[in-house]
Amino acid sequence: MTDAADYIPGFGNHVATEAVAGALPIGRNSPQKVPFGLYAEQLSGSAFTAPRHENRRSWLYRLRPTANHPAFTRYDGAPHLASAPFDAVPPSPNRLRWDALPWPEGASDFVDALVSYGGTGSVAEQTGVGIHGYAATADMARAFFSADGEWLIVPQEGRLSIATELGRIDVAPQQIAVIPRGVRFRVALPDGRARGYVCENYGAPFRLPDLGPIGANGLANPRDFETPVAWFEDVDAACEVVQKFQGGLWTTTLDHSPFDVVAWHGNLAPYRYDLTRFNTINTVSFDHPDPSIFTVLTSPSDTPGTASCDFVIFPPRWMVAEGTFRPPWFHRNVMSEFMGLIAGAYDAKEGGGFVPGGASLHNQMNGHGPDKAAYDKAVAAELTPVKIDGTMAFMFETRHVVRLSRWAEATPTRQLDYDDVWTGFAKASVPRG
Ligand SMILES: [Fe+2]
Repeated sequence: MTDAADYIPGFGNHVATEAVAGALPIGRNSPQKVPFGLYAEQLSGSAFTAPRHENRRSWLYRLRPTANHPAFTRYDGAPHLASAPFDAVPPSPNRLRWDALPWPEGASDFVDALVSYGGTGSVAEQTGVGIHGYAATADMARAFFSADGEWLIVPQEGRLSIATELGRIDVAPQQIAVIPRGVRFRVALPDGRARGYVCENYGAPFRLPDLGPIGANGLANPRDFETPVAWFEDVDAACEVVQKFQGGLWTTTLDHSPFDVVAWHGNLAPYRYDLTRFNTINTVSFDHPDPSIFTVLTSPSDTPGTASCDFVIFPPRWMVAEGTFRPPWFHRNVMSEFMGLIAGAYDAKEGGGFVPGGASLHNQMNGHGPDKAAYDKAVAAELTPVKIDGTMAFMFETRHVVRLSRWAEATPTRQLDYDDVWTGFAKASVPRG
């Protein structure tokens, strides 16, 4: 892409935008004659009858209707992309960790580079998430969309220029992009290659978490989210479109670009967010608060307060707690925790092994926490104010156990000695009465 993308600030707003003056109908969604002969198309992201605060839809005005396409046939690429239910291998209670996702040999675009770690729920039931990684080395010449869910893309290395039907989004590491279910997109790699993570959200769309006693401000502030303005290309040339549908991949070829939306309005749209703008909240007295204070976005389940998936980050922050073991504590959790590292080091792992581009998984009710080196350092530390800097880790925390893909279990990048980080703790000595 040659021109810089342009954005409208705010989260979940009703937006009206046109790339050509006069393209957007005024006062009605579906006029008898749309300006310039454009085709009106509603993109529904929620049931028509969803409550107003849950209702998401946009009206698109495009050169041709999306319906104008040949039949899809099965697509055999992306051999390591999989979907829930992940039942190829038994769910593992073990603590698991993987090295950085390796770069492919040869050219691989964003679609073919996708590998699945695993996931929860079911695409058929529209519950849970798929957790993927990508290490791509070639620009996409085609378009892709997932009918199975919303895509939260977390770059770790290399920028992404994402063309979508509703506009263009540029993201770099420490930024995220969210593409709604069904929206076609095309990923270019300005740095020649790019690696990162994806949460494919089959359930309720991500939203901002409630803030409770924190108040009206803090954590991810709404105005820091950015939605692209309308943009289109008028290209009459063959363009492949790959879609993910109930876990399978399908392909068709149009005789034109699918990125032909000249104007749109509504509240269902892709967006980006800069993680460095996160207003981090933490203790100014004692104890390490629960990491829910680091929630950027949440996808609720049908149980109040129990997320289908929380997207949580561990950004740079001051540690000032008095008389406190400051790193993340030892923990067993009814929720399951998949973590990745975007940059730097994570404060619960001093012994190495959790590296940028790598991942870890601590499933339901299985013990985890600081490694021996982090524990020893924390209990010996002088508790002066300390800035944790140059780091950005994240977590997809889910109410359901993350079941592994066949790739995640068998890949040589899985660290078979991960359990060793919790060995060597001396037995506590209790006086006997
Ligand atoms: Fe935990």
